[in-house]
Amino acid sequence: TADSTEPISDARAQAGEYLTTAQGVRLPDTDHSLKAGSRGPTLLEDFHLREKITHFDHERIPERVVHARGAAAHGVFESYGTAKSVTKAGFLAEKGRKTPVFTRFSTVLGSRGSADTVRDTRGFAVKFYTDEGTFDLVGNNIPVFFIQDGIKFPDVIHAGKPHPDREIPQAQSAHDTFWDFVSLHTEATHHVLWNMSDRGIPRSFRTMEGFGVHTFRLVNAAGETSLVKFHWKPVAGVHSLVWEEAQIAAGVDPDFHRRDMADGIEAGAFLEYELGVQVMADDGTDTFEGIDLLDPTKIVPEELVPVQLIGKLTLDRNPTNYFAETEQVAFHTGHLVPGIEVTNDPLMQARLFSYLDTQLTRLGGPNFSQLPINRPHAPVNDLLRDGMHQTAIHTGSAPYLPNSIDGGEPLVASAEEGGYVQIARPIEGAVVRANPASFDDHFSQATLFYRSLSGIEQVHIIEALTFELGKCYEQAIKERELQVLANVDADLCAQVAAGLGLPTPEGTPVEPAQLSPALSQVVTTPGPIA
Ligand code: HEM
Repeated sequence: TADSTEPISDARAQAGEYLTTAQGVRLPDTDHSLKAGSRGPTLLEDFHLREKITHFDHERIPERVVHARGAAAHGVFESYGTAKSVTKAGFLAEKGRKTPVFTRFSTVLGSRGSADTVRDTRGFAVKFYTDEGTFDLVGNNIPVFFIQDGIKFPDVIHAGKPHPDREIPQAQSAHDTFWDFVSLHTEATHHVLWNMSDRGIPRSFRTMEGFGVHTFRLVNAAGETSLVKFHWKPVAGVHSLVWEEAQIAAGVDPDFHRRDMADGIEAGAFLEYELGVQVMADDGTDTFEGIDLLDPTKIVPEELVPVQLIGKLTLDRNPTNYFAETEQVAFHTGHLVPGIEVTNDPLMQARLFSYLDTQLTRLGGPNFSQLPINRPHAPVNDLLRDGMHQTAIHTGSAPYLPNSIDGGEPLVASAEEGGYVQIARPIEGAVVRANPASFDDHFSQATLFYRSLSGIEQVHIIEALTFELGKCYEQAIKERELQVLANVDADLCAQVAAGLGLPTPEGTPVEPAQLSPALSQVVTTPGPIA
């Protein structure tokens, strides 16, 4: 009402009958600026013109420094209750519990306007709005990462993003700096092979696997811990494009993946995934069968530790507004709930710093958790105050605890009362800038991956490597990468070398079974190469 002293809500402000300024003043016209005579100059006093243009000038926010191109959907996660023995997190432990989620899929390297079907790793980030607080599983569609230590993240991204002088290439890995980096940092080899495989060009978001990549530490109600890797298994199966399809789609319909998801959801063809875990004993060694569980370039083969399914994700609702939801959503590996903890994986540790830090810039200050898409569905009562874009109107006197003036509220919670109390994990050792020796094995799992593929999948990797390396200007980089491939598989190397017209170097591939007898069960015989 006109004489109300109450502020009106955003929703009501957009619902009025008349077009207004942002201050609620009704407007007679929004198509003509105020001029001194119909042929005269525009007047600075035109507050409507200035407000309209100024707001427009500031409509864009910085795109994400990585994973800039993405598309998202709302949905629900329903727990099977099977994870109860390993975690006390209610949204996983309680059978039938339904939790609202928001999931954003992305490419890593391309800018916000790049094409969907380029060869790249895909982000698979899920925000669970649980009643114990928000949990984010910020994963990828490839189970390993390029680097072992987060301190190299700016370097690998600088090497993969467009060249600073010409800003090419915009979205693909076919360039010298990328191949220079991965041939010099050979820990990237395993990820590179996944990238060059059909996994690098998924057919659709609905046919992608997802992985939490790192090893997490889960804690059950009895306080027992286990080490766990998270997997998303698409109900529609895993399917990829072939390279020619991916290229045609990138040209004809750069929105190929987001269109499939949005149109599918609108038509009732929802995206479905089952969440699974591989559970390893938390015996103090952080290893399994010789595999270092803190090394994010390593998997645990599913033949050795099967994935146990613990719930189902259904994406069934498109966002109403891309900017408000998909662009402003803020995922963070540090958004954890009781029952889910981190490990000493040095990549994970760096991520725990990076996400909040970058979002302070991207989303303009420290209050973006108040944006509708980022608001927890659990009650919030924190001691955080003020800052840019503060929309809460806090009451009471100074926020500190204990506080005898404001009645001692809010309460702090013990573990039994649902408080996030970290398990007391021992940490010891000299302060060093060094990796454990187990991180030195850069090739055996790349070999394992390559040997596990069917013949046609191996052909696709050979063709992808030949095409991408063929785009390098520097011969020395191609030769160095061939040396890397020689350490993965002699035949793979020879075929790529032949494709590039270069000599085949000698290598020393390690048979995975040499590392651990258990791995000999895993290696499948490669199929014939067509
Ligand atoms: C964004 C996954 C490693 C820094 C993202 C996103 C995903 C993701 C899915 C997109 C989130 C969204 O949709 O909004 C991963 C995975 C990693 C990894 C699976 C390794 C296992 C790292 C590392 C760092 C890092 C090591 C830094 C040390 C970032 C940053 C963003 C991002 C700064 C942009 C976040 C934003 O602007 O909101 N990552 N990432 N990531 N990642 Fe990572």
